Amino acid sequence: MLTKDSPLLVTGGAGFIGSHFVLDWFATAGTPLVNLDKLTYAGNLRNLGSVAHKPGYTFVRGDIRDRELVDGLLHTHRPRAIVHLAAESHVDRSLMGPGEFLDTNVHGTFVMLEAARAYWQELEAVDQEQFRFLHVSTDEVYGSLKPGDAPFEETFAFRPNSPYAASKAASDMLVRAWHKSYGLPTVVTNCSNNYGPMQFPEKLLPLVLNRAIHGEPLPIYGDGMQVRDWLYVGDHAAALRVALERGKPGETYNIGGWNEQTNLDTVTMLCALLDEFLPDSPHRPHARLMTSVADRPGHDRRYAINATKAERELGWRPAETFETGLRKTVRWYLDNQAWVEEVTSGAYREWMETNYAGR
Ligand code: NAD
Ligand code: TYD
Repeated sequence: MLTKDSPLLVTGGAGFIGSHFVLDWFATAGTPLVNLDKLTYAGNLRNLGSVAHKPGYTFVRGDIRDRELVDGLLHTHRPRAIVHLAAESHVDRSLMGPGEFLDTNVHGTFVMLEAARAYWQELEAVDQEQFRFLHVSTDEVYGSLKPGDAPFEETFAFRPNSPYAASKAASDMLVRAWHKSYGLPTVVTNCSNNYGPMQFPEKLLPLVLNRAIHGEPLPIYGDGMQVRDWLYVGDHAAALRVALERGKPGETYNIGGWNEQTNLDTVTMLCALLDEFLPDSPHRPHARLMTSVADRPGHDRRYAINATKAERELGWRPAETFETGLRKTVRWYLDNQAWVEEVTSGAYREWMETNYAGR
């Protein structure tokens, strides 16, 4: 019989959001958790050093597309829920190589759903009711907003514009179908852009921080007036925890920070914080390093989330403001340069060459 102490099976728990979810879980619920992660370039076990030896924590290196492996984990650990975060997550990489995004995000989610369905169908009725498949997705599935448009609501049509967004939209559709067709108790969250400690320095904030610290040009795509709705990653982890406990099967919840910022404003704020934290830096004022480069093809102009449903039905609200979240983030990167150096050696240099050399 499943209980509140039955484990969670988390996929992608060594990535940026996944590792914050795992750390939050052991700091709050503290019940057992199995972390299945392939450790691609984006996965990093260093993020999880503080929980690695906790009783109840199990790490398994493996691929979500490996049905035999996933079946074995479900059979052995008998989880009460699956929290599915594993994905390829960077838009620019999806433009250069969309195949891996379809394989991981679409086929990988299909394998997870099929394994979950087989496991769930064998459970007793009372356990079937308790079980959850929490699918972690993005606001990018809704496409791009114009300046005066209302923020994304859960009822909006999907209009993905990048291979990444299309692959996530496809995975969301599969999750919906597995609920409608087979009754699998799924919950979907669509979250806005996350930022915070331990984010791989290919995404805007950590990339800019890392380059600014070293006095390197800060690449601003196009006019820099694109808008993103930034949420501190710890607030997202908390939202996933409550969505797991209170989310209704078959429902979708939009998660966001009510915090729309242009890229120019975001980078300017980061630079001002670096000026403050590094008064002796030869690179001050860091904003001087901002450099316009060729725009991203199909670049979405604006994302914004209406998080009313999550607030009303899950009782969730972000704890951090952009100001407090950015301060924590900048402090963390300055205090953890060894982490940055480790993840930016080797293959990272090739990525920087591929994505930025021709811009
Ligand atoms: P990330 O790229 O930092 O981490 C992804 C993790 O998945 C890595 O640990 C990687 O090793 C693992 N992984 C990749 N392919 C795998 C496979 N085939 N099998 C097992 N593990 C595999 O991603 P993130 O930013 O932490 O995003 C996590 C999830 O949240 C994704 O599903 C993403 O679409 C979604 N999301 C991200 C954001 C954001 O701003 N980063 C916002 C909303 C939603
Ligand atoms: P990113 O962090 O890649 O997230 P997403 O594309 O999923 O929103 O980018 C955030 C915004 O910053 C997006 O509008 C693209 C822009 N951007 C730059 O201007 N320069 C960069 O070097 C990167 C990586 C992103």
